[in-house]
Amino acid sequence: MDTLYEKVLRPIFFTQSAETAHDFTVNALRLLDTLPFAVRIFERFNLRPKNTKPVRLFGLDFPNRVGLAAGFDKHAQIWPALGAFGFGHAEIGTFTMHKQDGNPKPRMFRYPAAEAVVNRYGFPNPGAEIVARRLAHAPGKGARSFPLGINIGKSKITPLDKAAEDYISSFALLADYADFMVVNISSPNTPGLRELQNKNHLAGLLGAVQGANRRRAESLSLAPVPILLKIAPDIAFPQLDELLGIVEANHFDGIVATNTTVSRPAGTENFEATGGLSGRPLLEKSLGIVRYISRATGGRLPIIGSGGICQPEDAGRFMDEGASLVQIYTGWVFRGPFFPARVARALAWHQREWV
Ligand SMILES: Cc1cc2nc3c(=O)[nH]c(=O)nc-3n(C[C@H](O)[C@H](O)[C@H](O)COP(=O)(O)O)c2cc1C
Repeated sequence: MDTLYEKVLRPIFFTQSAETAHDFTVNALRLLDTLPFAVRIFERFNLRPKNTKPVRLFGLDFPNRVGLAAGFDKHAQIWPALGAFGFGHAEIGTFTMHKQDGNPKPRMFRYPAAEAVVNRYGFPNPGAEIVARRLAHAPGKGARSFPLGINIGKSKITPLDKAAEDYISSFALLADYADFMVVNISSPNTPGLRELQNKNHLAGLLGAVQGANRRRAESLSLAPVPILLKIAPDIAFPQLDELLGIVEANHFDGIVATNTTVSRPAGTENFEATGGLSGRPLLEKSLGIVRYISRATGGRLPIIGSGGICQPEDAGRFMDEGASLVQIYTGWVFRGPFFPARVARALAWHQREWV
């Protein structure tokens, strides 16, 4: 099926601009989402492979180890259909407190020979309030076929010194619908966002978000929502050490590593588009960060590995370096609709001693 995609459908698809092709896919998935029984049938016929036992992580059961990375479902519209393609979780967003249009088009560029994408979307999204209303009408926690992660970022109009309030407002609106939350401080397309990775900003931000989480949990007599931090691959190890200390001190539940890179690794030096690079050229960089985190924390901190998974073996390497789950975005674009199912199946067969 994926060979058919690569040989026949992809060339047709790629005659369109990257964003037009993306929007077409989203519309097709919205249509599929109106047919829940079709989604269930796809899932049943083992297109979504199950691990022999679910992967249990931060109190949640994941049917397999493969998820859709953030940035694909920017409007919280298509995630319920994703199980049909093999995904065992989805991270939607990034959502910001204020609705925003993102950067002018074009803002997504494909490099098929390198299986890479450069994007500078800049978080176009309807804003946390609209997203919350949309999620209130979708299957809720406990009624879903996989865990749903909600990724939040800073609104472009919010100054950096008010970032914590912006994140907390989005958190308050969306936490009721999230199986886990992801605090994104690592996208390269919101000016200044990555500065939040510096210790001066980070401790205050993570403390504020976790504080809001605790207060919400106490007032509702519920367990706090698991919260993860999504980091950039362009981070020096001494800074990563500081970051990990702050993450652990604030009892974050894990790390998503990594977002796109602003560097241009070997073979991509001539990619002229400005923005974050994803796909195959990102793999070694992301793996290096996962390896470092796993060693630095003695494996204590759960890691979701993301960056450049373009074949099942790449996902296996993330697991070997200490990841517990993986996420895919660009590989899905190049390798076809059932690529996630192939990766999940391969990981389920080779479970070894992965946590
Ligand atoms: C077009 C595009 C848009 C993205 N938008 C977001 C986003 O809004 N928030 C986010 O945290 N990551 C975003 N990402 C990063 C992905 O979630 C992922 O971390 C990264 O692309 C590495 O995985 P990959 O090589 O499998 O694509 C985006 C990636 C792409 C390609």
